[in-house]
Amino acid sequence: MTTDLDALRDRLVSAVEEAADLAALEDLRISALGKKGEITAHMKQLGGMDPEQRKQMGQALNQVKAHVAKALDARKAVLENADLEKRLAEERVDVTLPVAPEPVGSVHPISQTIDELTAIFSDMGFTVAEGPDIEDDFHNFDALNIPPEHPARQEHDTFYLPPVTEDQAHMVLRTHTSPVQIRTMMGQKPPIRVICPGRTYRADYDATHSPNFHQVEGLVIDKATHMGHLKGCLIEFCKAYFEVEDVPVRFRASHFPFTEPSAEMDIGYAKRDGQIKIGAGDDWLEIVGCGMVHPKVLRNCGLDPDVYQGFAFGMGIERIAMLKYGIPDLRTFYEADVRWLRHYGFAGLDIPNLYEGLSR
Ligand code: DAH
Repeated sequence: MTTDLDALRDRLVSAVEEAADLAALEDLRISALGKKGEITAHMKQLGGMDPEQRKQMGQALNQVKAHVAKALDARKAVLENADLEKRLAEERVDVTLPVAPEPVGSVHPISQTIDELTAIFSDMGFTVAEGPDIEDDFHNFDALNIPPEHPARQEHDTFYLPPVTEDQAHMVLRTHTSPVQIRTMMGQKPPIRVICPGRTYRADYDATHSPNFHQVEGLVIDKATHMGHLKGCLIEFCKAYFEVEDVPVRFRASHFPFTEPSAEMDIGYAKRDGQIKIGAGDDWLEIVGCGMVHPKVLRNCGLDPDVYQGFAFGMGIERIAMLKYGIPDLRTFYEADVRWLRHYGFAGLDIPNLYEGLSR
Protein backbone atom coordinates (compact mmCIF):
# COMPACT_ATOMS: atom_id res chain seq x y z
CA MET A 1 0.00 0.00 0.00
CA THR A 2 2.76 2.43 0.97
CA THR A 3 4.55 1.58 -2.27
CA ASP A 4 1.36 2.63 -4.07
CA LEU A 5 1.45 5.89 -2.14
CA ASP A 6 5.15 6.36 -2.95
CA ALA A 7 4.35 5.94 -6.64
CA LEU A 8 1.42 8.36 -6.35
CA ARG A 9 3.66 10.92 -4.63
CA ASP A 10 6.43 10.61 -7.23
CA ARG A 11 4.00 10.91 -10.13
CA LEU A 12 2.30 13.99 -8.69
CA VAL A 13 5.58 15.69 -7.72
CA SER A 14 7.12 15.16 -11.14
CA ALA A 15 3.93 16.41 -12.85
CA VAL A 16 4.10 19.51 -10.65
CA GLU A 17 7.77 20.07 -11.46
CA GLU A 18 7.00 19.92 -15.15
CA ALA A 19 3.97 22.23 -15.09
CA ALA A 20 4.51 24.70 -17.91
CA ASP A 21 2.62 27.65 -16.47
CA LEU A 22 0.55 28.81 -13.54
CA ALA A 23 -2.74 27.68 -15.11
CA ALA A 24 -1.44 24.11 -15.60
CA LEU A 25 -0.16 24.14 -12.04
CA GLU A 26 -3.57 25.17 -10.70
CA ASP A 27 -5.20 22.30 -12.65
CA LEU A 28 -2.72 19.91 -11.06
CA ARG A 29 -3.43 21.25 -7.57
CA ILE A 30 -7.15 20.68 -8.07
CA SER A 31 -6.68 17.18 -9.49
CA ALA A 32 -4.46 16.19 -6.52
CA LEU A 33 -5.74 18.10 -3.51
CA GLY A 34 -9.14 19.44 -4.59
CA LYS A 35 -12.46 18.05 -3.38
CA LYS A 36 -12.45 15.47 -6.10
CA GLY A 37 -8.69 15.10 -6.17
CA GLU A 38 -6.70 11.87 -6.07
CA ILE A 39 -5.30 12.38 -2.58
CA THR A 40 -8.70 13.51 -1.30
CA ALA A 41 -10.20 10.30 -2.72
CA HIS A 42 -7.69 8.22 -0.72
CA MET A 43 -8.49 10.26 2.39
CA LYS A 44 -12.15 9.43 1.99
CA GLN A 45 -11.39 5.70 2.19
CA LEU A 46 -9.84 6.09 5.69
CA GLY A 47 -13.32 5.98 7.28
CA GLY A 48 -13.84 2.35 6.25
CA MET A 49 -10.57 1.09 7.77
CA ASP A 50 -9.88 -0.46 11.14
CA PRO A 51 -8.23 1.96 13.63
CA GLU A 52 -4.67 0.64 13.30
CA GLN A 53 -4.73 0.71 9.49
CA ARG A 54 -6.44 4.12 9.49
CA LYS A 55 -3.69 5.54 11.66
CA GLN A 56 -0.94 4.22 9.44
CA MET A 57 -2.63 5.21 6.19
CA GLY A 58 -3.65 8.58 7.60
CA GLN A 59 -0.06 9.42 8.49
CA ALA A 60 1.28 8.19 5.14
CA LEU A 61 -1.36 10.14 3.19
CA ASN A 62 -0.64 13.30 5.18
CA GLN A 63 3.04 12.96 4.28
CA VAL A 64 2.18 12.56 0.58
CA LYS A 65 -0.12 15.56 0.81
CA ALA A 66 2.56 17.69 2.50
CA HIS A 67 5.10 16.63 -0.08
CA VAL A 68 2.85 17.51 -3.01
CA ALA A 69 1.81 20.81 -1.39
CA LYS A 70 5.47 21.72 -0.93
CA ALA A 71 6.25 20.90 -4.56
CA LEU A 72 3.26 23.00 -5.67
CA ASP A 73 4.50 25.99 -3.66
CA ALA A 74 8.04 25.66 -5.00
CA ARG A 75 6.88 25.39 -8.62
CA LYS A 76 4.48 28.30 -8.14
CA ALA A 77 7.31 30.51 -6.94
CA VAL A 78 9.48 29.53 -9.93
CA LEU A 79 6.67 30.17 -12.43
CA GLU A 80 5.70 33.50 -10.87
CA ASN A 81 9.31 34.62 -10.98
CA ALA A 82 9.61 33.60 -14.63
CA ASP A 83 6.41 35.49 -15.37
CA LEU A 84 7.83 38.62 -13.78
CA GLU A 85 11.12 38.27 -15.63
CA LYS A 86 9.23 37.91 -18.90
CA ARG A 87 7.18 41.04 -18.26
CA LEU A 88 10.25 43.00 -17.23
CA ALA A 89 11.99 41.97 -20.43
CA GLU A 90 8.96 42.83 -22.57
CA GLU A 91 8.17 46.15 -20.94
CA ARG A 92 11.77 47.22 -20.66
CA VAL A 93 12.55 50.89 -21.29
CA ASP A 94 16.04 51.61 -22.60
CA VAL A 95 17.06 54.33 -20.19
CA THR A 96 20.39 54.73 -21.96
CA LEU A 97 18.68 56.33 -24.99
CA PRO A 98 18.97 60.12 -24.98
CA VAL A 99 15.70 61.77 -23.98
CA ALA A 100 16.27 64.66 -26.39
CA PRO A 101 18.88 64.96 -29.13
CA GLU A 102 22.27 66.03 -27.79
CA PRO A 103 22.94 69.70 -28.56
CA VAL A 104 25.46 69.45 -31.38
CA GLY A 105 25.57 72.86 -32.99
CA SER A 106 26.51 76.17 -31.45
CA VAL A 107 25.82 79.80 -32.24
CA HIS A 108 28.70 81.43 -34.13
CA PRO A 109 30.25 84.45 -32.37
CA ILE A 110 29.19 86.68 -35.28
CA SER A 111 25.54 85.67 -34.88
CA GLN A 112 25.88 86.00 -31.11
CA THR A 113 27.30 89.53 -31.47
CA ILE A 114 24.49 90.54 -33.85
CA ASP A 115 21.95 89.17 -31.35
CA GLU A 116 23.63 91.15 -28.55
CA LEU A 117 23.65 94.36 -30.64
CA THR A 118 19.99 93.83 -31.46
CA ALA A 119 19.11 93.34 -27.77
CA ILE A 120 20.97 96.51 -26.74
CA PHE A 121 19.69 98.78 -29.48
CA SER A 122 16.12 97.52 -29.43
CA ASP A 123 16.08 98.46 -25.74
CA MET A 124 16.93 102.02 -26.88
CA GLY A 125 14.05 102.02 -29.37
CA PHE A 126 15.91 100.98 -32.53
CA THR A 127 14.61 98.49 -35.07
CA VAL A 128 16.67 96.31 -37.42
CA ALA A 129 16.82 97.28 -41.11
CA GLU A 130 18.31 95.22 -43.93
CA GLY A 131 19.45 95.81 -47.47
CA PRO A 132 20.84 93.71 -50.35
CA ASP A 133 24.46 92.48 -50.51
CA ILE A 134 24.58 93.37 -54.22
CA GLU A 135 24.26 97.13 -54.52
CA ASP A 136 24.38 99.76 -57.21
CA ASP A 137 26.80 102.69 -57.29
CA PHE A 138 24.09 105.08 -56.20
CA HIS A 139 23.34 103.45 -52.84
CA ASN A 140 26.87 102.28 -52.05
CA PHE A 141 28.65 105.52 -53.09
CA ASP A 142 26.89 108.44 -54.81
CA ALA A 143 24.04 108.97 -52.37
CA LEU A 144 26.55 108.77 -49.53
CA ASN A 145 28.40 111.74 -51.00
CA ILE A 146 31.14 109.60 -52.53
CA PRO A 147 31.14 110.72 -56.20
CA PRO A 148 33.13 108.69 -58.79
CA GLU A 149 36.29 110.82 -58.53
CA HIS A 150 36.30 110.73 -54.72
CA PRO A 151 39.47 109.17 -53.22
CA ALA A 152 37.32 107.17 -50.77
CA ARG A 153 36.28 104.98 -53.70
CA GLN A 154 39.82 103.64 -54.04
CA GLU A 155 40.06 102.96 -50.30
CA HIS A 156 37.05 100.70 -50.49
CA ASP A 157 38.74 97.96 -52.61
CA THR A 158 35.41 97.31 -54.25
CA PHE A 159 34.39 94.04 -55.88
CA TYR A 160 32.67 94.98 -59.15
CA LEU A 161 30.29 92.52 -60.77
CA PRO A 162 30.34 92.21 -64.56
CA PRO A 163 27.28 93.86 -66.17
CA VAL A 164 24.66 91.33 -67.29
CA THR A 165 23.95 93.26 -70.52
CA GLU A 166 26.24 95.70 -72.37
CA ASP A 167 24.25 98.83 -71.58
CA GLN A 168 23.74 97.90 -67.93
CA ALA A 169 25.81 99.61 -65.24
CA HIS A 170 27.97 97.32 -63.11
CA MET A 171 26.77 96.37 -59.66
CA VAL A 172 29.03 96.07 -56.62
CA LEU A 173 29.22 93.87 -53.55
CA ARG A 174 28.45 96.43 -50.86
CA THR A 175 31.65 97.67 -49.26
CA HIS A 176 29.89 98.81 -46.09
CA THR A 177 26.44 98.76 -44.47
CA SER A 178 25.99 102.53 -45.08
CA PRO A 179 23.81 101.97 -48.21
CA VAL A 180 21.13 100.64 -45.84
CA GLN A 181 21.02 104.19 -44.37
CA ILE A 182 20.09 105.48 -47.80
CA ARG A 183 17.45 102.82 -48.38
CA THR A 184 15.94 103.49 -44.95
CA MET A 185 15.81 107.29 -45.38
CA MET A 186 14.29 106.92 -48.84
CA GLY A 187 11.82 104.29 -47.68
CA GLN A 188 10.43 105.66 -44.44
CA LYS A 189 9.57 108.96 -42.80
CA PRO A 190 11.45 110.31 -39.76
CA PRO A 191 11.70 109.80 -36.85
CA ILE A 192 14.09 106.99 -37.78
CA ARG A 193 16.06 104.78 -35.43
CA VAL A 194 17.60 101.74 -37.05
CA ILE A 195 20.59 99.48 -36.84
CA CYS A 196 21.64 97.58 -39.93
CA PRO A 197 23.84 94.56 -39.26
CA GLY A 198 25.02 92.55 -42.24
CA ARG A 199 27.68 91.18 -44.58
CA THR A 200 30.11 93.50 -46.32
CA TYR A 201 32.83 92.83 -48.92
CA ARG A 202 36.24 94.25 -49.83
CA ALA A 203 39.07 92.91 -51.99
CA ASP A 204 41.49 92.68 -49.11
CA TYR A 205 42.97 89.69 -47.30
CA ASP A 206 45.47 89.49 -44.46
CA ALA A 207 45.55 88.76 -40.72
CA THR A 208 43.22 91.66 -39.96
CA HIS A 209 41.19 91.85 -43.19
CA SER A 210 38.84 89.38 -44.80
CA PRO A 211 37.17 89.80 -48.22
CA ASN A 212 33.86 89.07 -46.52
CA PHE A 213 33.24 90.58 -43.11
CA HIS A 214 30.35 92.11 -41.14
CA GLN A 215 29.43 95.59 -40.09
CA VAL A 216 26.65 97.21 -38.16
CA GLU A 217 25.35 100.60 -39.12
CA GLY A 218 23.30 102.87 -36.89
CA LEU A 219 21.08 105.73 -38.02
CA VAL A 220 18.94 108.21 -36.09
CA ILE A 221 17.00 110.97 -37.86
CA ASP A 222 14.70 113.39 -36.08
CA LYS A 223 14.02 117.09 -35.78
CA ALA A 224 16.37 118.00 -32.93
CA THR A 225 19.10 115.37 -32.92
CA HIS A 226 22.61 116.54 -32.03
CA MET A 227 26.12 115.30 -31.30
CA GLY A 228 25.26 114.89 -27.59
CA HIS A 229 22.68 112.24 -28.49
CA LEU A 230 25.27 110.46 -30.61
CA LYS A 231 27.81 110.42 -27.78
CA GLY A 232 25.26 109.31 -25.17
CA CYS A 233 23.99 106.53 -27.42
CA LEU A 234 27.46 105.11 -28.16
CA ILE A 235 28.62 105.35 -24.53
CA GLU A 236 25.49 103.48 -23.41
CA PHE A 237 26.12 100.89 -26.09
CA CYS A 238 29.73 100.30 -24.96
CA LYS A 239 28.76 99.81 -21.32
CA ALA A 240 26.01 97.37 -22.25
CA TYR A 241 27.99 95.47 -24.87
CA PHE A 242 31.26 95.08 -22.97
CA GLU A 243 29.29 94.53 -19.75
CA VAL A 244 31.55 97.00 -17.91
CA GLU A 245 30.01 99.75 -15.77
CA ASP A 246 32.75 102.29 -16.39
CA VAL A 247 34.19 102.39 -19.91
CA PRO A 248 36.47 105.35 -20.65
CA VAL A 249 35.74 106.67 -24.15
CA ARG A 250 37.19 109.44 -26.26
CA PHE A 251 35.96 111.03 -29.45
CA ARG A 252 38.54 112.09 -32.06
CA ALA A 253 37.76 114.31 -35.04
CA SER A 254 37.81 112.31 -38.27
CA HIS A 255 36.51 112.42 -41.80
CA PHE A 256 33.84 110.49 -43.66
CA PRO A 257 32.18 111.84 -46.82
CA PHE A 258 28.69 111.06 -45.48
CA THR A 259 28.96 112.79 -42.08
CA GLU A 260 29.76 116.32 -40.97
CA PRO A 261 31.23 116.64 -38.41
CA SER A 262 32.76 113.17 -38.27
CA ALA A 263 34.42 111.42 -35.36
CA GLU A 264 35.94 108.18 -34.28
CA MET A 265 35.28 106.79 -30.86
CA ASP A 266 38.01 104.98 -28.91
CA ILE A 267 37.54 102.91 -25.79
CA GLY A 268 40.06 102.45 -22.99
CA TYR A 269 41.66 99.12 -22.26
CA ALA A 270 44.50 97.57 -20.31
CA LYS A 271 46.63 94.60 -21.30
CA ARG A 272 46.77 91.95 -18.60
CA ASP A 273 48.67 88.67 -19.08
CA GLY A 274 48.67 89.32 -22.81
CA GLN A 275 44.87 89.68 -22.80
CA ILE A 276 42.91 92.81 -23.64
CA LYS A 277 40.72 93.99 -20.77
CA ILE A 278 38.16 96.64 -21.72
CA GLY A 279 37.87 99.41 -19.09
CA ALA A 280 40.27 101.77 -17.35
CA GLY A 281 43.82 101.43 -18.62
CA ASP A 282 46.58 103.19 -20.51
CA ASP A 283 45.65 102.31 -24.06
CA TRP A 284 42.94 103.17 -26.55
CA LEU A 285 41.26 101.11 -29.23
CA GLU A 286 39.31 102.61 -32.10
CA ILE A 287 35.99 100.84 -32.42
CA VAL A 288 33.45 103.00 -34.22
CA GLY A 289 33.23 105.68 -36.92
CA CYS A 290 30.40 108.18 -36.54
CA GLY A 291 29.11 111.67 -37.15
CA MET A 292 26.15 113.88 -37.97
CA VAL A 293 24.54 112.84 -41.27
CA HIS A 294 25.82 115.20 -44.02
CA PRO A 295 23.19 117.67 -45.32
CA LYS A 296 23.95 116.48 -48.86
CA VAL A 297 23.12 112.90 -47.89
CA LEU A 298 19.84 114.01 -46.32
CA ARG A 299 19.02 115.92 -49.50
CA ASN A 300 19.95 112.92 -51.68
CA CYS A 301 17.30 110.99 -49.77
CA GLY A 302 14.64 113.66 -50.13
CA LEU A 303 14.92 115.04 -46.57
CA ASP A 304 15.19 118.77 -45.85
CA PRO A 305 18.34 119.39 -43.76
CA ASP A 306 16.76 122.53 -42.31
CA VAL A 307 14.07 120.37 -40.75
CA TYR A 308 15.80 117.05 -40.07
CA GLN A 309 19.17 116.16 -38.62
CA GLY A 310 20.56 112.96 -37.37
CA PHE A 311 23.58 110.88 -36.58
CA ALA A 312 25.06 107.72 -37.99
CA PHE A 313 27.71 105.26 -36.90
CA GLY A 314 29.36 102.14 -38.26
CA MET A 315 31.57 99.44 -36.79
CA GLY A 316 33.03 96.05 -37.58
CA ILE A 317 31.22 93.14 -35.96
CA GLU A 318 34.21 90.78 -36.01
CA ARG A 319 36.31 93.48 -34.39
CA ILE A 320 34.01 94.01 -31.41
CA ALA A 321 33.48 90.24 -31.09
CA MET A 322 37.27 89.70 -31.02
CA LEU A 323 37.64 92.33 -28.31
CA LYS A 324 34.86 91.02 -26.12
CA TYR A 325 35.57 87.31 -26.47
CA GLY A 326 39.37 87.40 -26.74
CA ILE A 327 39.48 85.90 -30.24
CA PRO A 328 42.99 86.59 -31.55
CA ASP A 329 42.77 85.92 -35.31
CA LEU A 330 40.15 87.28 -37.71
CA ARG A 331 40.61 84.48 -40.25
CA THR A 332 39.45 81.80 -37.80
CA PHE A 333 35.91 83.21 -37.96
CA TYR A 334 35.42 81.76 -41.45
CA GLU A 335 37.34 78.49 -41.25
CA ALA A 336 34.40 76.44 -39.93
CA ASP A 337 36.79 74.51 -37.65
CA VAL A 338 34.57 72.47 -35.34
CA ARG A 339 37.04 72.74 -32.43
CA TRP A 340 37.03 76.54 -32.76
CA LEU A 341 33.22 76.61 -32.97
CA ARG A 342 32.94 74.44 -29.86
CA HIS A 343 35.29 76.72 -27.99
CA TYR A 344 33.95 80.12 -29.05
CA GLY A 345 30.35 79.16 -29.91
CA PHE A 346 27.29 79.87 -27.77
CA ALA A 347 24.43 77.64 -26.63
CA GLY A 348 21.54 77.73 -29.08
CA LEU A 349 18.74 78.59 -26.69
CA ASP A 350 20.53 81.30 -24.70
CA ILE A 351 19.21 84.24 -26.70
CA PRO A 352 20.96 87.38 -25.43
CA ASN A 353 18.78 89.81 -23.52
CA LEU A 354 19.48 92.70 -21.19
CA TYR A 355 17.68 91.44 -18.08
CA GLU A 356 19.43 88.06 -17.87
CA GLY A 357 22.79 89.31 -19.17
CA LEU A 358 24.04 89.30 -22.75
CA SER A 359 26.66 86.57 -22.70
CA ARG A 360 25.84 83.87 -20.20
N1 DAH B 1 30.92 103.17 -43.69
C1 DAH B 1 32.13 103.35 -42.93
C2 DAH B 1 33.17 102.30 -43.32
O1 DAH B 1 32.81 101.28 -43.84
C3 DAH B 1 31.86 103.22 -41.46
C4 DAH B 1 31.08 104.38 -40.97
C5 DAH B 1 31.71 105.49 -40.48
C6 DAH B 1 29.70 104.38 -40.98
C7 DAH B 1 31.03 106.59 -40.03
C8 DAH B 1 28.98 105.48 -40.54
C9 DAH B 1 29.67 106.58 -40.06
O2 DAH B 1 27.66 105.52 -40.53
O3 DAH B 1 28.98 107.64 -39.64
O4 DAH B 1 34.30 102.47 -43.09
